Amino acid sequence: MTKTDILVIGSGIAGCAAARAAAKKGVDVLLMTRDSSLEESNTFYAQGGIIFRGDNDAPHKLAADIIAAGAGLCYEPAVRVLSEEGPRCVQEVLIDELQVPFDVVDESSDEYDLTAEAAHSVRRILHYKDVTGRAIETAFLQALAKNPHIHILTNATAIDLLTLSHHSLNPLDTYEPPTCIGAHVLINETGVVDTVFAKETILASGGLGRVFLHTTNPPGSRGDGIAMAYRAGARCINMQYVQFHPTTLFHPSGRFLISESLRGEGARLMSPRGEEFMKRFHPNGSMAPRDVVARGIHQWMIESGEPYALLDISHKSPDWIRTRFPGIYEKCKSLGIDITREPIPVVPAAHYSCGGVSVDALGRSNVARLRAVGEVACTGVHGANRLASTSLLEGLVWGTRAGSDAAEGTLKSGGHYFPEIAPWVYERETVDPALIAQDWLTIQQTMWNYVGLVRTTKRLDRAHEILRELHLEIERFYDKAAISDSLIGLRNGVQTALAILLAAMECRESRGCHYRSD
Ligand code: SIN
Repeated sequence: MTKTDILVIGSGIAGCAAARAAAKKGVDVLLMTRDSSLEESNTFYAQGGIIFRGDNDAPHKLAADIIAAGAGLCYEPAVRVLSEEGPRCVQEVLIDELQVPFDVVDESSDEYDLTAEAAHSVRRILHYKDVTGRAIETAFLQALAKNPHIHILTNATAIDLLTLSHHSLNPLDTYEPPTCIGAHVLINETGVVDTVFAKETILASGGLGRVFLHTTNPPGSRGDGIAMAYRAGARCINMQYVQFHPTTLFHPSGRFLISESLRGEGARLMSPRGEEFMKRFHPNGSMAPRDVVARGIHQWMIESGEPYALLDISHKSPDWIRTRFPGIYEKCKSLGIDITREPIPVVPAAHYSCGGVSVDALGRSNVARLRAVGEVACTGVHGANRLASTSLLEGLVWGTRAGSDAAEGTLKSGGHYFPEIAPWVYERETVDPALIAQDWLTIQQTMWNYVGLVRTTKRLDRAHEILRELHLEIERFYDKAAISDSLIGLRNGVQTALAILLAAMECRESRGCHYRSD
């Protein structure tokens, strides 16, 4: 058994920001991740950048861009928090404290090289080449490692959140409001399940892109946080709004994000015959909001029968391309595509969940002592379609707010109740890895084909039949099987897929990235 003041589950920008802010108040933080490497997170792979402030920029201009992209569904108080506090938080935490080496205009100046992305009215995005997330994550982890209040646990998978009503052995706790008291955690190396009690638990477990066949997300994005929060009784909202990134590399080895900042720097989407077809779908062409571009490419592919569109930046100088986009240049080159001379074949892929655990401005969910920050949470900022480069900012701002407020709460109120809970029961049946692999494929193909960019009642109904059955089957063997990270992931994956599907079935109106052709 372990006890901590604050348990942070997930080590991307939101988790790191929460841990940093809480530790600053002098409380003990346990920062855990299921990967063996703390840096493995969606943040690490973020390319484009993080919003700062442009020339003649102002919070109300940023707010207007977020709201326009969000298709009328943004929660304005949350947008105000982001646009007013965000740039200040970037300055104080990332620039002044962590000294993230964002690109400057030239070596001799301290003027930042702000980039553009679709649906931003000004250039306001800080970046470090095309590996911005990596630069931020590395700087955060170096700082956290030196902090004596922060304890790090890697290679540990949260199985379930502990709540009074689900886990307490005191039957009278049923009458308490829903309250989270920590998590059951599988230590992957030993197979031991630890009970981690926490005064406050902050979910920062990232996204869910892996429930789709094609995604920009790393393998850990299996919706673990959503499924755990859901089982604990947390409200999950806007789950139908899964954003598809318009441009990922089309290659048999898998999808690879081709940053929107390429288009921000002048790359053009076109057909093999050179037609800039996006102009047919939106006056801003390649720079239209992300949901419009993703659907435009999809529609054009159906009409033309082409397996991919082309994204061309080769009109820029080769040296500039190699310096500005080294990650994308190298990746494409390793697959035989020289982006300084030829266009990149691109297709849309699942990218970001705009919905999640419903939280307030301090990251609090409807379950007491449970907060959520970053992609797993829904603050309402993104509405039905997220504006590019808002996600790192949201993770930073809400992580900081939630960490700080949670720490203050634990300091203020003396006793946090921890009941006696039943010991973990170890089951013994082994699970055939082939079953897990095939079940994942069923989830991913079903979500991609029936709950993807374009949805219809018939497709959603078919998906429901498949996933409902699969969910029951997985629950049946989960109950008897020896616990493992892959089993936990599969159970979470099917539950998260169902949460998206059910939200999509209920929502008959096309809006933002939920599009129903019927
Ligand atoms: C990108 O670099 O295109 C991704 C940026 C984002 O999703 O905000």
